[in-house]
Formats: sequence, structure tokens, C-alpha cells
Amino acid sequence: MEAQPPTTAPADSPDLASLPVQPLLTAEFDADPGAVYRRLRRTYGPVAPVGLLGVPVWLVLGYREVLEVLRNEGQWRRDVRYWRARAQGRLPADWPLLAGYEVRQTMFMDEEEHQTARRTLHTALRPFQDAETPEGWELRSAVSRYADDLVALLAAESGPSGFADLGAQYTRPLLLLVTAKLFGCPVGLGDALVMDLWRMLDGGPDAGPATARALAAFTRLATHRRALPGDDLTSYMLLADPGLTDEQLGRELFMNAVYLNDITGNMVLNTLLEVLRGNATVRRSLSAGQLGETVDRAALANPPVANMCFRFAARDVRLGDFWIRRGDIVSPSAAAAHQDLLAIGSSPLVGSAVSTHAHLGWGGGPHQCPGAARELGTLIVTTAVGRIFDHFAGAELTLPPDQLPWRSGPVVRGLRVLPVRYELTPAAPVNSGSQAKGLLAALRRLMLRTG
Ligand code: HEM
Repeated sequence: MEAQPPTTAPADSPDLASLPVQPLLTAEFDADPGAVYRRLRRTYGPVAPVGLLGVPVWLVLGYREVLEVLRNEGQWRRDVRYWRARAQGRLPADWPLLAGYEVRQTMFMDEEEHQTARRTLHTALRPFQDAETPEGWELRSAVSRYADDLVALLAAESGPSGFADLGAQYTRPLLLLVTAKLFGCPVGLGDALVMDLWRMLDGGPDAGPATARALAAFTRLATHRRALPGDDLTSYMLLADPGLTDEQLGRELFMNAVYLNDITGNMVLNTLLEVLRGNATVRRSLSAGQLGETVDRAALANPPVANMCFRFAARDVRLGDFWIRRGDIVSPSAAAAHQDLLAIGSSPLVGSAVSTHAHLGWGGGPHQCPGAARELGTLIVTTAVGRIFDHFAGAELTLPPDQLPWRSGPVVRGLRVLPVRYELTPAAPVNSGSQAKGLLAALRRLMLRTG
């Protein structure tokens, strides 16, 4: 009779807490995360123990293993209460990444509860999804208008040719305006928020207070829109699930704001960078008018959600060359998994003619980016990138690509700045009206100060 594989980790298999681990977030990781992933892969195989701000975590590096973690919901739980080290009180009290994980919203729910929350978001987002509805049409024209206004502002301030930071002067204010519009929030709400979301995501020393401030802001927004409903996502969430309390809705808005503002903004910048640095395939797809394909190519080369949110093992399980014990924490890395896809460029998986849809830029499995949100994200990215290349006769990086400063946290990899020398086309927008100019100038000043 064949021996059955063990269902619990053998006693002599190494335990995460006792393994020596290297910290992941180093200066080298900041400069070249790809090199770090490759070294970990060589040393440990497709799953590696790493230190994340002092806490040991399994980093999942192999494409196949990442897919397994994303798809197998029964084995890999999102609810932070499954985390053994947390339940046993073994985490440092001020561990900066915990604040975000303690915010109970769709992303950190499992099964039935998760599906219900996802349906609410989907219903609320649906009116914005296609151009046929008044809300969808209005949002589309607003994104284009904001983009044009920002280019006009650039022209007014720096002339038809000059230098610009496409992060501070274009992408970040654009996403703030879109967030304010979609969420139905007064623009004033946006200012300190972006920085607080960064602090939470990157695990800065003040991540806890920053998370609390952002949550309070979105809870206030929920209260405001309950009293004064409008044609916005906040109001539509309340229509989709009238039982939501202001606190619950505030938590959902908070997480959506991370994706809409920060992740989508980074996708814009990463796509612009891929084009500017001359990624030939990306340039080809752009010039062929296939902006969607351009975004996919950029997501493959540099996914903004580099390392996805933690999952926790429901049972002991073998993954890669290790036994993962029940309650262990794993972080599936899209960026590392993409190395597998890119490295086999000569294989049938990612040749030049191969669909880039295999990328994990949108996640995978039951927690992948919801369809309506993906459409919205794609719309914003393609409009933002498309408008730049419509209005710019020329643009080139003013720093060598390997000297660009990155924000490289445990989750996100995004550019801090994207400095270019540009030349506008004669037909580029020049006058956006004094009111819009005033608003945009204020936003731009804000972003320059905080960025
Ligand atoms: C280009 C832009 C975007 C990218 C690259 C992106 C990427 C992702 C990824 C990778 C995940 C899965 C994370 C994980 O499993 O840990 C995700 C989930 C999610 N995204 Fe997006 N996203 C984008 C835009 C948006 C937008 C615009 C919204 C909302 C307005 C949004 C809302 C969400 C939500 C709510 C989830 C959690 C779903 C769940 O847990 O069931 N995303 N996104």
C-alpha cells in the first residue's frame, strides 16, 4: 500500500519563527527588487522566509505557488484572526503593518461574508462601468477633462516645452480629483489623505495614527452622503446595502481609496515609464492604438501591487520546499512571480505573441480586483496615459531609469517622481478657465509639498 502524504508538518520540518531570516525591505530592495527576488529564489526555491519590519513572513515567489495561494480560498484565509503569531500575542505591539490589517473590510473577509460585501461594491460601481449610463459618461468625460486641465496648467506655468514631474504635476492630482468625484467628497477631503494612505501601506512609524485619520475622514464622508445623497459611489453603496453603518462604509471607502488613488496612480506612472524608457513591446502596442495591451505589458513588467496582501494558512501544507504551518503568514508576490513569466520569454507562455493576460497585476482568485473596478482602473489609466501622448509631441526622461527614486514598501512599488523634458503639440489644451486653474494649482502645490 502506498504511504499517504502527511497532513501535518513533520516535527523536524523548519518552523517559520525559528528560521533565520533576512530583512526584505533593504536599500538593495528599494533599488532593485528583482535582484532580491532572484537571490531568494536561488537560496530557498519558490517560497522563502523573509523578515518584514522585524516579523517573519513566507514570501511566495513562484508563479505556480502564487496562483495556488490566490485561488485556494479554503486553504489560504484572508481574515487576520487566522494569524497564529497575532493570536498568541507574539507581534511587536507597534508593528506598523498591523494597523491596516485590523481594518475589517471586504479584502480581509472570507467566503460568504466576503461575497456579500463584494456584491455590494459591484452593484454600487456598476453605474460607472460603461459609457452608456449618465454616471459612466460623466465620469469618463471628467477624467479626460481633468487630464486636459492638468496639461493646460503645465503649459500655462512652464510653457509649451520644458520640464515636468508627471507624478506631482499630473498623475497624483489627477487621481485625487477622480477620487473626489467618484466618492462624492469635497476636494478638501483629499489633501492629507494621500499621505496617510502611503503611511499605512508602507508601514511608516506613524502608520497607526495615519490609518485612524484616514478612517475617520471616510466615516465622515459616509455620514455626509447619508444625509445628502448624490450620484456617487458612497451614496450608491448605501443604496446597495442600506444596512451599512457609517463606520462599515467608511472602512470600505478607505480600502477602495487605496486602490483608486494610490494603486491606479502607480499604474499610470509605471505605464508612462515603460513607454518612456523605450520598452519596445509597450511602445509598439501604444502606437498600434492598443492602450489596454500597453497597460497589461506595463503590469507584467512592474505590477503596482508588487506583493499582495497577506494570507494565512488554514491547515499545515507543503508549499515550495517548505512546510507552512496552520496560522502561518504568507505574502504572494506578483512581482516575483512575473519573473517566471518573463524569464520564459522563449517558452510558449510569454512569447511576443502571447497574451499578457497571464499577469497577476489584478490579483487572482476570489479576491482579485472586482470586474467593475478593473474596468474603471483601466479606463483611468488608458485615459491618463493616452492624454499625455495625445498632447505631447515629445517626452523624454531626465534621469536614467536606474536612478529614478521608487517608493518600495511591503506592498506597493511606485515612482516617487517621473521627471521628463516635454514638448507639447500645437493643439494641446492651453486654457482651462481660471476656476479650474485655481483648483488645479492648489492641488499641484499640495502634491509638490507632500510628494
Ligand atoms: C489599475 C488599477 C488597479 C490595479 C492594478 C488593481 C489591483 C488589484 C489587486 C492586485 C488586487 C488583489 C489584491 C490581493 O489579492 O491582495 C485588487 C483587489 C481589489 N481592488 Fe483593485 N486594482 C486597481 C484598481 C481598482 C479600483 C479603481 C478600485 C475601486 C474603485 C479597486 C478596488 C479593489 C478592491 C475593493 C479589491 C479587493 C477585492 C477583494 O478582496 O475581494 N481596484 N486590486
